[in-house]
Amino acid sequence: MLDRINRLKSEIEQLSASTPEEVEALRIKYLSKKGEVSLLMNDFRSVPADQKRVIGQAINELKNFATERINSLRESLLTADTECEGIDLTRTASDIRLGSRHPLSLVREEIIDIFRKIGFSVAEGPEIEDDWHVFESLNFAADHPARDMQDTFFIQRSPDVLLRTHTSSVQSRVMETTKPPIRIICPGRVYRNEAISARAHCFFHQVEALYVNEDVSFADLRQTLLYFAREMFGPDTQIRLRPSYFPFTEPSAEMDISCNLCGGKGCSFCKHTGWVEILGCGMVDPNVLDACGIDSKRYKGFALGMGIERITNLKYQVKDLRMFSENDVRFLNEFQAAH
Ligand code: DAH
Repeated sequence: MLDRINRLKSEIEQLSASTPEEVEALRIKYLSKKGEVSLLMNDFRSVPADQKRVIGQAINELKNFATERINSLRESLLTADTECEGIDLTRTASDIRLGSRHPLSLVREEIIDIFRKIGFSVAEGPEIEDDWHVFESLNFAADHPARDMQDTFFIQRSPDVLLRTHTSSVQSRVMETTKPPIRIICPGRVYRNEAISARAHCFFHQVEALYVNEDVSFADLRQTLLYFAREMFGPDTQIRLRPSYFPFTEPSAEMDISCNLCGGKGCSFCKHTGWVEILGCGMVDPNVLDACGIDSKRYKGFALGMGIERITNLKYQVKDLRMFSENDVRFLNEFQAAH
C-alpha cells in the first residue's frame, strides 16, 4: 500500500498541464469521488489495524500534496497567460482626458432648445447653394450689393453656384416643399468674402427662425423675441426694436437687448448706450411667400436671423472671433464646466 502511495506521489509530482481544461481533467483523475486518492481511501478499510496509523497519515499527506500540486498548476496557467501577452494588470490606468463641447455648439443647442419649447423644429439646408435660394427667391433685386463678388464666394458663374451667405436660404427651401403652418429653426454655417480679423471672419454661424401661418402678426413676432431674449439672457432682459431694412421682410427690424454686462447702465461693450444689437427680423415679404409657392393672400409669416458668434460673445465675452476656429485646447477647455 505504501508503495502504491509513493508511486502515485511521484506521478503527481511530474504532472503538467497547458490549459485550464487539462488541469480540471487531472483534478477529476486524482481528487474526485472516484479519483485515485478516493480509491486509496476505500482500500484503507482492509489495511491491518497495526498499519492503519502510518498508512492513514501517508494517504492524508498524498491528498494534500495532490491538492496543492493541482492548484499550483492552475495558478501558473493564469499568470503565464497574462505574461505572454505582455499586459501588466497591476499597472494603474492612464488618465482619461474628457473633451469639452465647443462654445458655439453649446449656444446653438441652447437657442434650438428655447425655440423647440414653443413648437419650432430644426431644418437644415446645403452650404453650397444656388442664386435662387440665397438671393432671388428672397426678393434681392438683381443689382443688390450683397450679390457682389465682394461678399459672396462663388464656386461657379452662370449658372451660379455659391457658398450661402446666410441661413435665410433654408427658409425658401422649406417653404417650397412644406404647406403652412411652418415653424422652423435653421442653424448652420455661412460664408462671406471678408478679411479675417478679430471682428470678422470669412465663415461664421447663424440661426434662422421662420413661422408661417394664417393670422401671423408683428405682435406674435415681438412676443416670440421677448420670450427668446429672456430665456437666453435672463428674466430681467429688456428688448427694443429699431426699424431696419432686409429685402425679404417688410416691415423689418433689428432687435437690441439691454446690455447684460452692465445691466443697461452703459459700458464699453455696449458703447455706453446700454443696448446691444443681436438680430434682424421682420414680417416675411409677400413676394417671398409667392416666390416659394405659398399664397400670400392667405398666409403671413415672420422671420428672424441671428449670428451664433455674436450671442456667444455676449454670454462668454470672447474678445476675438478667430478663437472660435483655431482649436486651441486652452480656450476650448474653458467651456468644460459649462455643460
Ligand atoms: N439673413 C440676414 C443676414 O444674414 C439676417 C436676417 C435678418 C434673417 C432678418 C431674417 C430676418 O430672417 O428676418 O444678415
